[in-house]
Amino acid sequence: MNTFQVALGNRSYPIYIGCGLLDQAELYTRHIKAKQVLVVTDEKIAPLYLDRVLAQLKGYKTTQVILPDGEQHKSLDVLNQIFDDLLANKFGRSATLIALGGGVIGDISGFAAACYQRGIPFIQIPTTLLAQVDSSVGGKTGVNHPLGKNMIGAFYQPQCVIADTNVLDTLEDRQLSAGLAEIIKYGLIRDAEFFSWLEANIDALLARDKQALAFAIERSCVNKAEVVAEDETESGIRATLNLGHTFGHAIETGMGYGEYLHGEAVAIGTCQAADLSRRKGWLKDSDVERIVALFKRAKLPVYPPNALSPEQFLELMSVDKKNVDGEVRLILLKAIGLATLPVGVDESLLHTTLAFYRS
Ligand code: GLY
Repeated sequence: MNTFQVALGNRSYPIYIGCGLLDQAELYTRHIKAKQVLVVTDEKIAPLYLDRVLAQLKGYKTTQVILPDGEQHKSLDVLNQIFDDLLANKFGRSATLIALGGGVIGDISGFAAACYQRGIPFIQIPTTLLAQVDSSVGGKTGVNHPLGKNMIGAFYQPQCVIADTNVLDTLEDRQLSAGLAEIIKYGLIRDAEFFSWLEANIDALLARDKQALAFAIERSCVNKAEVVAEDETESGIRATLNLGHTFGHAIETGMGYGEYLHGEAVAIGTCQAADLSRRKGWLKDSDVERIVALFKRAKLPVYPPNALSPEQFLELMSVDKKNVDGEVRLILLKAIGLATLPVGVDESLLHTTLAFYRS
């Protein structure tokens, strides 16, 4: 097992990464202060891993909430089911919530933990590659609104992240690729050497080579932990983690939550951001070709859905947390391995990319 620290003063916490961690009771119990524990998971993960997690919690008063699977269920209505259970079971402020699942479960459970009685401790047990390398780390929690993705939420850090790489054995291929999108993102925004490593090892990752996956997860978590430690609440450098996300969120919202996996939408959005970076004169044609080629090799989509017109994109992108006074601001690339902070983009240039970069 490898342990990495997210250094946030008195809110610091470890990320444990390794094989078989799900069955290591001590990892859980060292972060649980009182007897009441609620495990939140989804219909897909419950039959696979819920009993194994509950088996580590003997001696605790546990309850479970099993939510429907999918981004379309990351909503205020579904969030309320968690509060119903916490209240029905008279959970107090020292109770612990465990999020066992992918990004949807982590985000919604973390937000429930942030809000319930103004904050109770929670533990992240991410079960998708995307959650292990991105969403479980850094304390972004929340739910979607029909008009905008992740528009309701809070920064709220977990007590720890337990990333058991064995659970990736049951991950669908499509979900594996979606996780690779966020892994590629770290190479693009701040780690050119890692990007080159990914070009050389993408086939091993797709073949689920354990060593390659462990390296990619650890390198991603180290990158994420460094960024979050520097800028927990996204007043600066943390925004670079949103490369491709403004385009991507527009795709997720515009096409209906759950139609595209988050990582798929981010892959497309990153290609759009790369195209725009080239139009700004920052990326070379050969850089854009390398970026698009790597996403394609990772079996990710690279073109936006034709169903979304450039005008619809612009409308959807006008709802984004990075925007200031209604101006769309994007993370772009100066080079592979070097992202910009949010930059205002001339609407006609943005329109050119939206109109040009289509399938
Ligand atoms: N997923 C982007 C962030 O955590 O800031």
